[in-house]
Amino acid sequence: MKEERDLIILLDFGAQYSQLIARRVRAQKVYCEIMPYNTPAAKLAEKNPRGIIFSGGPASVLDADAPKCDPAIFQLGVPILGICYGMQLMAQMLGGSVVVPDEREYGMVTVCVNNEGRLFKGMSGELQAWMSHTLQVSQPPAGFEVLAATTGCCSCAAFENTGRNFYGLQFHPEVTHTPRGQEIFHNFLFDICGCRGDWQMSSYVDQAVAAIREQVGDKNVLLGLSGGVDSSVVAALLHRAIGDQLTAVFVNHGLLRKNEPEEVEAVFRPRLGDKLVVVDASQRFLSKLAGVTDPEEKRHIIGREFVEVFADTARSLGQLDFLAQGTIYPDIVESGSATGMVIKSHHNVGGLPKDLPFCGVVEPLRPLFKDEVRELGVELGLPENMVWRPPFPGPGLAIRIIGDITEDKLLITRESDAILREEIVNSGLGREASQYFTVLTGLRSVGVMGDERSYDYTVAIRAVSTDDFMTADWVRIPYDVLDRISRRIVNEVRHVNRVVYDITSKPPASIEWE
Ligand code: XMP
Repeated sequence: MKEERDLIILLDFGAQYSQLIARRVRAQKVYCEIMPYNTPAAKLAEKNPRGIIFSGGPASVLDADAPKCDPAIFQLGVPILGICYGMQLMAQMLGGSVVVPDEREYGMVTVCVNNEGRLFKGMSGELQAWMSHTLQVSQPPAGFEVLAATTGCCSCAAFENTGRNFYGLQFHPEVTHTPRGQEIFHNFLFDICGCRGDWQMSSYVDQAVAAIREQVGDKNVLLGLSGGVDSSVVAALLHRAIGDQLTAVFVNHGLLRKNEPEEVEAVFRPRLGDKLVVVDASQRFLSKLAGVTDPEEKRHIIGREFVEVFADTARSLGQLDFLAQGTIYPDIVESGSATGMVIKSHHNVGGLPKDLPFCGVVEPLRPLFKDEVRELGVELGLPENMVWRPPFPGPGLAIRIIGDITEDKLLITRESDAILREEIVNSGLGREASQYFTVLTGLRSVGVMGDERSYDYTVAIRAVSTDDFMTADWVRIPYDVLDRISRRIVNEVRHVNRVVYDITSKPPASIEWE
């Protein structure tokens, strides 16, 4: 069936920045779907895209085994934009040449647009751009015009063939270091591909609801609800699509943030009724974790227990056909694996026993990024505080308590974390900080409370900003906010007499302390 809506297909050649392209396109209200680079042209044609984008990629087009697209794609009559590797591949497959230049350009460069063409309409002159390449086009294919060069070594930083509607950029328009990148995408999407820009999150809801109904039919679906953003949005979406064919299991492992179990109940009980199954396994987890100090051992125990509890619950529920997961695009690490089945590790269902014969996995958030998932959550009517809460690791507070875990330490961590979260949100930093929490450092030190000597715990504040969680910087929280957080924690949380702020980026530190 031909799709009527605007659709841009991104062929993914595995670049570190390629995921961002889809998001930039969707930010212009055009739906973009990522597909593996080797998708056959006929399959692309079935989707009737208005345009195709070739992403960058780590390979060299000069290598014999370099990933190539189906050559028939160039015969579809659909506009194509190649970015970095995508441009080089287009050049090579259409008869141009690509070389290893004497110099390399990496990072910020100045691009001189000598010929606006269609791609740079309204953009002649110099612009700043982000380059990351070892190869470059030395000879464009016949029929292509060079539009721009860098002030460095790249004489063909952009080209186009308006007759065939093929375009190429050596630099990355999708990263924020290319400030006018969105204008280039705008030219491609609207002037060249003729998109209308009428896509919105509510269209995604309709699309996803239809796809879920088609996949699931009249079968049943089981979802592990963690209380985090992703699984909560999946729950709301599945409920909209299939109503009481959905059963959601919420395992409380006792390592959750303050009020989290209550909030999950409050949001989902009215929607799901008795199809929300809450299992309080806190004591089981705490007794298995007693005395354990090694971070990896903690993770291992929690993972194993979680699978057991989840699987036991699933068995007790009788026939369940599909397993739903909140996998989002950044969870799909392997390039080109976008059609494979990836089990999200932090939901700990990777090792579900074989006697739970699910006939398939439902992953309706697969094409989305975290901020888009949040937008979808709002669209589905989830409360703002649930949708905007910072990410929380599967092993929960266990990896934020250095050393062994006890009820007392959990209380300190939970209470201090709640204060921190409240103050960060109240001071308007909630969107700038990607993740923020407190850590019970395990360190005790001397203090004075009133006239009394104290010997109590040190709590650390961690707040980072990041796009991808692979690298992160610490947030410059204003001193007065830090001061308020520190005072409140030592005054309101028993057994804390010192608060420190972790000012380490990642790398070298990781975001979590364990
Ligand atoms: P690190 O500490 O590796 O964290 O810099 C990067 C991101 O991953 C989260 N994280 C985990 N998530 N299970 C999870 O589900 C885990 O074991 C785990 N360890 C870290 C962390 O919260 C951060 O968002």
